[in-house]
Amino acid sequence: MSDKQLITTIVGTQWGDEGKGKITDYLARDFDYVVRFQGGNNAGHTIVANGHTYKLHLLPSGVLSAGTVSIIGNGVVVDPKVLLEEISEFKKTNSTPYLKISERAHVIMPYHLPMDGGLSSGQGKLAAGSTGRGIAPVYADKAYRHGIRIGDLLDPEMLKEKLEKSYTFNTQILNKIYRLPFDRTVEDVYQEYLQYGRELAPYVADTELELYQAYAMGKSILFEGAQGMSLDPDHGMYPHGTSSNNVAGYAEVGSGVGLNCKSRIIGIMKAYVSRVGNSPFITELTDTTGDAIRTKGVEFGTTTGRARRIGWLDLVQARQSVRTSGLSEIAFTKLDVLGGLKELKVCMGYEIDGQITTEMPASLSKIRRAKPVYQTLPGWEDTSATTYDTLPPNMRDYIEFVEKKINCPISFISLGPDRERTIIR
Ligand code: IMP
Repeated sequence: MSDKQLITTIVGTQWGDEGKGKITDYLARDFDYVVRFQGGNNAGHTIVANGHTYKLHLLPSGVLSAGTVSIIGNGVVVDPKVLLEEISEFKKTNSTPYLKISERAHVIMPYHLPMDGGLSSGQGKLAAGSTGRGIAPVYADKAYRHGIRIGDLLDPEMLKEKLEKSYTFNTQILNKIYRLPFDRTVEDVYQEYLQYGRELAPYVADTELELYQAYAMGKSILFEGAQGMSLDPDHGMYPHGTSSNNVAGYAEVGSGVGLNCKSRIIGIMKAYVSRVGNSPFITELTDTTGDAIRTKGVEFGTTTGRARRIGWLDLVQARQSVRTSGLSEIAFTKLDVLGGLKELKVCMGYEIDGQITTEMPASLSKIRRAKPVYQTLPGWEDTSATTYDTLPPNMRDYIEFVEKKINCPISFISLGPDRERTIIR
């Protein structure tokens, strides 16, 4: 591994579900550490390995590689019930995961779940279509300074003091603003979360310090992003996104290690786009081509099972990702899904009020009015090729066309969920 590859970050360039889990898993076995740095169990990674399909929500993909330490960093929000269930499910086919959880990571509390529903229903057309896992309320509590952190679950006095404040604040909003019932007592929640603390204690650590020491010793670290740039609260289609930053720069904030080095930053980009949830979707396909791609690409949410909306590849979005994450390269995924189409389209820019732009507008009203400007390219047949040179020529042309237009090298080509269906250029 070269010095530049010792620190590698993987991020989604679209709306999540680009195939990050597969690429992370593909690379993870070579790394000493794999670190989640944002998001929570709104994420879902599907990994096919050792004859099993793993659906991971909170566990970093590194858990599948023996000897790799998996870290849930301070920027992640943890639902302890979900994490414990995932650990126990994982242990049915594997040994205990080599996992460490930051004491500073915030905890999703039971009142955050109904609060997510209340928020979404109050937001109407501006709602993001949340996964309903309590993500926005827990990040809001962090900002309000009402949050409870993993370390607090191991400290009965501290937990009691913080929970009383957090519980009162949240249940009052639930009852008085949203008129939603929350009938659990503070004592009941306290006892439940103390128990989670006892069960998670063996995994809880000062992960920021450990990562810093590992970094100083020249160990290799893979940062595993969740979601994708268009869901980033600063750079995405705000407010139709999630509540944690998922561009690559956030890896340092969400893990606590300042990286004063050249690193490899891999953007995962699907050969078409998909999203779950609400927002304008400029290249959306609502016809039978969209249906065929959804079925062939098995585009149903890992976390919620919702059918994903499908669209043509959007190079305005892709270029914005290259820029905001400082991508050094792209892993281009699911090209196999487009096999069999006679022709396909790529969005080169947007027409807004008669003007063409090739940059993503910040304004939601402009995004709502944007119409795609397409270039049509010829399709290719299904292929079982395992080398770049033997891929169908039209597929190679598509890859090289995209690479040129976004000015970022495409170094991985993924042609199916199995590790073997990966071509490195
Ligand atoms: P939340 O993060 O559950 O609040 O959801 C906010 C928006 O982000 C919704 O549109 C979700 O569908 C979307 N979202 C959150 N996590 C993921 C993910 O891992 N993949 C795809 N979409 C996601």
